[in-house]
Amino acid sequence: MKIAVAKGDGIGPEIMDAVLKIFEAENVPLTYEFVEMGKWVFDKGYSNGMTPIAKDTIEELGILFKGPMETPKGKGVKSVNVTARKTWNTYANKRVFKTLHGVDTVFSKAGIPIDLTIVRENIEDTYGGIEHMLTQDVTLSRRFITRPGSLQLIRYAFEMAMKKTSKRITCIHKANIMKITDGLFLECFYEVAKDFPELKADDVIVDDLCMKLVTKPDLFDVLVLTNLQGDIVSDLCAGLIGGLGFAPSANIGDHICIFEAVHGTAPDIAGKNIANPTALLLSGVSMLQHLGLMKHAAIIENALLFTLESGVHTGDFGDKKHAAVNTTQFAETIISNFGKIPSLGAKQLLPNLPVSATDFKLGKNPMLISGKMKSGKIVGVDMFIESEEQPEAVAKKCESHAGNKFKLISLSNRGTQVWPTGSVYTNLVNQYNARFEAIAENEIFQQDSIELYSRLSTDFKICSLELLNAWGDIKGYSLAQGQ
Ligand code: NAI
Repeated sequence: MKIAVAKGDGIGPEIMDAVLKIFEAENVPLTYEFVEMGKWVFDKGYSNGMTPIAKDTIEELGILFKGPMETPKGKGVKSVNVTARKTWNTYANKRVFKTLHGVDTVFSKAGIPIDLTIVRENIEDTYGGIEHMLTQDVTLSRRFITRPGSLQLIRYAFEMAMKKTSKRITCIHKANIMKITDGLFLECFYEVAKDFPELKADDVIVDDLCMKLVTKPDLFDVLVLTNLQGDIVSDLCAGLIGGLGFAPSANIGDHICIFEAVHGTAPDIAGKNIANPTALLLSGVSMLQHLGLMKHAAIIENALLFTLESGVHTGDFGDKKHAAVNTTQFAETIISNFGKIPSLGAKQLLPNLPVSATDFKLGKNPMLISGKMKSGKIVGVDMFIESEEQPEAVAKKCESHAGNKFKLISLSNRGTQVWPTGSVYTNLVNQYNARFEAIAENEIFQQDSIELYSRLSTDFKICSLELLNAWGDIKGYSLAQGQ
């Protein structure tokens, strides 16, 4: 079996070499096609951080095992890590955080075991990276949460939870504030939950989760989150089990999968051969399991767990009374411990599964449609306009352009209503949202909004516009605070 490998930047090559050495010593039946991705590829002029050959190779082989990669700052380029996950639709980011015997934490000392699996949405949310400056003072990030994307992710999470015989699966969200976006995610969660009655499915608000995780982490099992919240909570969970050096990650898609550690390139310790390769090794172990190489995965994981509980450690953890080993020595110790069984968390030596060749070549981009929506209609339009005037003056001008199809309903500033009612204590920035709704009997078409745009533009610079859609009783837009 051949897989693509990208060693990455910073500590990437050091920890990848250590992991591949362990694989080689265990005779893992894999061959590697090394591909060019990372900072130095940006520097060579490839703005997406990977060469065309690297892209073709990964699409051909379907599996990428990667080290961390640096995103150059302030050069107008996007993270190659995020690009890879999004381009190849690895929609589920699975991150396992487990107490490791030998890695002391406040919880291990208190005898509280941690076994958390985060399933983080990997494509959507603010990671769409669609950002604009609406005015020189006002920036905007678009947050996409889609029904097909959420269903795809959540179904994976439930199926995974069933396989690992989880007791509880919890949707984490902020639907009390982001009622439409996180509200949709939550709705999809309970929709999928109906197909898995054996699993206890519930939901917790993300801030409440954070408090509970640092006080009672053993309450939870599988957590399903949107992209940004999942990213943040993941690092919190890494802290609970001893740090980023122990947090593996798998980016799962229907066709291509990427295995990598949660941590970054650790520039502060790069080139010193002192980094902890555990997170990348655990990511590699989950890749071997994914490929059906169960026996090799178990032997390596047992040797790693045995090594950790015997007190061997790199500089970032462990008992400081015993000298730390370097990355290479840590890998060599693991190799010398092949066949040894740890006292806690030993993996059963299951036979390797037969490998079936998957022919996943796609001829065109899959279009995801949830198929649930009834036909909708346009009931108004939000015009985002630039102005330094007071709300009354802005409203007067807006009303003068409303025409006979629209009525100005409200003005809001940073999401807080400031007209027709509001408070003079609300600070303003130079960008308003003028909400126009159709006068009751009028049917509104896109063209009407464009004509309104055109009339308003004689008085204002319009930063953007958003149609207000409704599907039956479902309003496809939020109210301003105070509206
Ligand atoms: P980082 O994870 O690289 O480092 C944070 C801290 O953890 C540092 O003190 C570092 O020394 C330590 N650390 C991380 N991994 C370690 C390991 N294996 N062994 C021992 N100590 C370890 O995060 P930071 O500094 O925010 O990011 C550095 C670069 O990495 C940035 O360019 C960032 O964009 C990139 N990055 C890449 C990721 C990826 O490739 N998936 C993920 C996160 C960040």
